Amino acid sequence: MIASGPLRILLVGFMGSGKSTVGAELAARLGWRFVDTDDVVEREQGLLIEQIFSTLGEARFRVLEHEVMQALLQQEQLVVASGGGWAASPGRLSDLGAGTTTVWLRVSAEEAVRRAQAQSHDRPLLRRTDALRAVRELLLLRTPLYAKSQYEVDTESFSVEDVTIRVMELLGLTGPTTRD
Ligand code: S3P
Repeated sequence: MIASGPLRILLVGFMGSGKSTVGAELAARLGWRFVDTDDVVEREQGLLIEQIFSTLGEARFRVLEHEVMQALLQQEQLVVASGGGWAASPGRLSDLGAGTTTVWLRVSAEEAVRRAQAQSHDRPLLRRTDALRAVRELLLLRTPLYAKSQYEVDTESFSVEDVTIRVMELLGLTGPTTRD
């Protein structure tokens, strides 16, 4: 039991940084729920992310993901994986309140592209002939915004388990937690 600690943990970072895999592992270890905002947006719209981008447009997707995030940030004992672009809008991480602990999962552009290409789901922003160059540019722009997170963890050459344990150590969490 912990007397005080985060009510929820919000993982931010670039595509392929491991937000979903680490988030699921972290939630399982804490006995919390895990939600990926991309999954909620897809479920609510009945469309895949790439279909939302192509039919509704990226700007509409950004509104939808932010609405989902605002609802999730009211909930407790929850690990949330944000989409890689959510924290990349100015101000997103500056006013979240005391209950939300933010963790930036760091990854290089090269590793992000390698991981993304090894996964099956389509990421509209990586569907370019020169994906690495596009990722480098986007990552450079987003890095100062991701850096507003309270904690950061390097994921570059670490397993999901290693990163999860590191997050728990940093946050002073040891296992299933209850707040009552
Ligand atoms: C995006 C990241 C994706 C998804 C969408 C846009 C981005 O989520 O929200 O394709 O702008 O970086 P993941 O970071 O989970 O891949």
